[in-house]
Order: sequence, then structure tokens, then C-alpha cells
Amino acid sequence: MPLYKGLIDRYRDRLPLADNIRIISLTEGDTPLIPLVNIPRTLGTDVSIYLKFEGLNPTGSFKDRGMTVAVTQAVAEGSQAIVCASTGNTSASAAAYAARAGIRAFVLIPEGKIALGKLAQAMMVGAVVIQIKGNFDDGMRLVREVAETAPLAIVNSINPYRLQGQKTAAFEIVDSLGRAPDYHCLPVGNAGNISAYWTGYSEYAGVDTAACVFHRQDCAYQRDAVTNRRPKMLGYQASGAAPFLRGGPVADPETVATAIRIGNPQSWDLAWAASRESGGWFAEFDDAEILATQKLLAEREGIFCEPASAISVAGAIRDIKNGRIEPGCCVVCTITGHGLKDPDTAIKQSATPVIEARAMLADVQKAILDHLD
Ligand code: F0G
Repeated sequence: MPLYKGLIDRYRDRLPLADNIRIISLTEGDTPLIPLVNIPRTLGTDVSIYLKFEGLNPTGSFKDRGMTVAVTQAVAEGSQAIVCASTGNTSASAAAYAARAGIRAFVLIPEGKIALGKLAQAMMVGAVVIQIKGNFDDGMRLVREVAETAPLAIVNSINPYRLQGQKTAAFEIVDSLGRAPDYHCLPVGNAGNISAYWTGYSEYAGVDTAACVFHRQDCAYQRDAVTNRRPKMLGYQASGAAPFLRGGPVADPETVATAIRIGNPQSWDLAWAASRESGGWFAEFDDAEILATQKLLAEREGIFCEPASAISVAGAIRDIKNGRIEPGCCVVCTITGHGLKDPDTAIKQSATPVIEARAMLADVQKAILDHLD
């Protein structure tokens, strides 16, 4: 096997990048597709559920897929600085790729509503972190405004190169499974990722989609079909931040899943196109259900994801139970971010307390015997 060099290298012929440009990569992509083994058994279902574990990207979230392509293109266009608004993961990823490229990153984050790991990442690699007294939607508006007055490349998913990078996750899934799944479950926040996956699945099926922004541009890249099917796209939102369920923007989004605490998704039309064209649906979960699923995944499967990511599995479980997802199907859920991103939320809801013990055999023995059943 040749050494894996990142997703631009692997899928170069399916990406709208010029030849001979400097690729900014951290060897992202090529993430595992992990089958669930215990949860389906408990459900008594023969549905195969796979997790596309995007928490194993270099900065711990799926954002790296989009960022390698967006920052590569920004550098090719001569940008010296990038900017984004973020609930945390985009800022961590943008900061890392800017460091790799040797350019500046400015990141706008909502005050007090960003998981600690994500903040640490952006600060550690030297991004200029601007904490605004507002939410992600305010940040997004400000980014658009400030980019008109300063020479900055926006690397939020309104940058079409971001979605081009993110579509490669769908390619990897089809390449690994040898087919497209029947259903694909995703958390939906700013709605870029669901649009990107649908673009990827459609391109691999050789079919046009309104979710792909590059259709309207003069851009040639490989779109040959490698599969004849596409999944139904299922988008899940937190009840306190569920504009796709409400039919329009939500003014004051609130959820424990801070990654998807978004009321005014930028890829609104693209995500609706993905949902409608695929015959999928949107559904919502409250915070208690999100946290319960995060815990279930950790305790039953050993997989630690951040709260927002758990919502895709919550959705799959509910829709398998209610029969909307039929027996015998193949389902892929994207685990968008690693659990280490948000240690505070994890510790708060952990069932097993930390046991204090003296550094003596008797104490340790007692602690163990108390917990052996
Ligand atoms: N899951 C995680 C862990 C995220 O960080 C995000 C988005 C999503 C899901 C939703 O994806 O926006 O494409 O619908 N995070 C962005 C950020 C908004 O700033 O990090 P989406």
C-alpha cells in the first residue's frame, strides 16, 4: 500500500483544484467505518449500523476535510489570512491549517459557549481568538461584513471549497462498503456537511444535485459514476436549535450540544435539496436524549464522541425502532467530533465517580471488590 497522503492526494481528480499548487494537508481523511455490535443486538434489529468516525481526523473533527481544500485554495489565491465564525471545531481546524500554511487565522467564537478542548486547540496553534458577546449566527454575520473591509479569505462552509473537501467522506464510505448505504444520519447545524455528503454520494452515482454549488461554475473535474445508488439523508437537530423543523431561523438557539447551537444555517437551500432529492427527513432531539445517547455509545460500544455527534446515532436508533428505517438496511452515522473536545460535559454526566484511595493495597483492593459483581 502506498503511504496515505491526505484526501486531496487520494481524490485529486474529483476536486476542483488547479494542478501544481501547494497542498496544505495534515493527512486528514481515511477515517474508520466502525460497525456497532452491542447496540443493534439490544435493539433486536438486523439493521447494520456503521459509524464514520470523523473524530479521528487530525484536529478531532470532520472540519479538517473541508479545511485542507479551503486553505489550499486560499493559499493558491495568495491569501495571507483566513477568518471564520465557529462553535469551536471550525476554529480549531482553521487555526491548525493556517499554522501549517504559515498564514494568520482569525476566529470568532461565542462567549462562554465553546467546549474547552476546541478553545485550547485554537489558542495553542496561535490563532487570533475573538470571543464575541453573541452567538454563532452573530459571528457569521460579522465574518461576512469584516471580510468586505479586510483582505481575509472566509473559511466557513459558505466557502464552496469547504464542501468540496467534505464530500470525500461519502466517497470513502462507498469505497469501504463497496456500495452506498441505504440511510445516512448526520447532525445538522450550519447545514454544510449534509449538503457535502449528498454532493459526494451524487457524484459517485453520476447524478447532478442542487446541493452542489460547483454546478453553476465553470469547473471541470471527474464525475464518473462508481455506484448506482444513493442513501436517504437523515438530518437531526437539537430541539432548542432546530430551524429545519421550525421552517425558518430560530432567534436564540440553545442546546448542550454547543457545536450545533445554530439558529440561522448558511446552507439552508442546499440542505433542503439534499433532504428532498434523497427522500430523507429531519427530526429533533432534546438535550437529555442527546446526552443519553452520547453515554450509551460510550458505555455500550466504547466510542467517545462529543454531544452533537451522538445525535446521528440517536436518530438512527429512533428511526429503526419506529420502523421508518426498515429491517435489513445499511445505515451510516457520522460521528462528527471526538469526545475529548468537550471534557466538561462528559465528566458532568459520568456515572462512575472517581474513588479516593490511599496509596495502599487495602484501599485499592476494597475499591475493586466493591465493584466486582
Ligand atoms: N457536529 C459537530 C461536532 C460540529 O462541530 C458541527 C458544526 C456539526 C456537527 C454540524 O455540521 O454545520 O455542517 O451542519 N460545527 C461548526 C463549527 C458550525 O463552527 O465548528 P454542519
